[in-house]
Amino acid sequence: MHRIDPKVPRDEQFSAIADMQREGLIQHVGLSEVTVEEIEAASRHFEVATVQNLYNLVNRRSEDVLEHCEKRKIGFIPWYPLAAGSLSKTGGVLESLVRKLSTTPSQLALAWVLKRSPVTLPIPGTSRVKHLEENTGAARVELSDEDFLTLDAMGREEWNGTQRKEAARQ
Ligand SMILES: NC(=O)c1ccc[n+]([C@@H]2O[C@H](COP(=O)([O-])OP(=O)(O)OC[C@H]3O[C@@H](n4cnc5c(N)ncnc54)[C@H](OP(=O)(O)O)[C@@H]3O)[C@@H](O)[C@H]2O)c1
Repeated sequence: MHRIDPKVPRDEQFSAIADMQREGLIQHVGLSEVTVEEIEAASRHFEVATVQNLYNLVNRRSEDVLEHCEKRKIGFIPWYPLAAGSLSKTGGVLESLVRKLSTTPSQLALAWVLKRSPVTLPIPGTSRVKHLEENTGAARVELSDEDFLTLDAMGREEWNGTQRKEAARQ
C-alpha cells in the first residue's frame, strides 16, 4: 500500500486490502510512509509484513517506526538510504571513516543501515552497474560497534541541524 489516501477513510482502504489477501490476489501486505499509529490501525485488518519509509543516516524522522518494526518483527525497508547520493559525495560527513576503513561513503551509509537493526533491508537505487556492485559490497563491510556509534552520532548531529533549520524557517 504505497500511501494511505487521505481522501478516503483508512479503514475502508485497509479492509479492501484484507479482502484481496483473503481472495488470494496478494500474499503479503507492505505499507509505505506510515506512522506507528497507522501500522497499528492496519494491523487490526491484516498482518503487516513490511514498512517502507524514508530513512537514512541523516534522516531519522522514522526512528520510532523502525523501533516499532523491530519490536513487532516487521521488515523495515528504508527507501532513500543514500539520501539521493548526497551522503556519497567526497568531503561529506562520512569522509574520515571512509579513509580509516578503506571503503566508500555509499558502502558506509548502507553498512550503517544494515547494522542499525536486524529488520532493515535497504533498497538503494542506481542506474550504473559500477554503483550497483559498490552498493552490494556494503554487505561485506564489517562495522565495529565503535565505528557504528561514531557514524550514528555524526548522522544524528546532521539530522538535529536539519530539524533546527526547518524550525527556524517556520
Ligand atoms: N516508498 C516510497 O514512497 C518510495 C519513494 C521513493 C523511492 N522509493 C524507492 O527507493 C529506492 C531508492 O530510491 P532512490 O533511488 O530515489 O534513492 P537512493 O537510493 O537513496 O539514491 C539514489 C541516488 O544515489 C546515487 N547512487 C547510488 N549508488 C551510488 C554510489 N555507490 N555512489 C554514488 N552515488 C550513488 C544514484 O545515482 P546513479 O544512478 O548515478 O548511481 C541516485 O542518484 C527505489 O527502489 C525507489 O523505488 C520508494
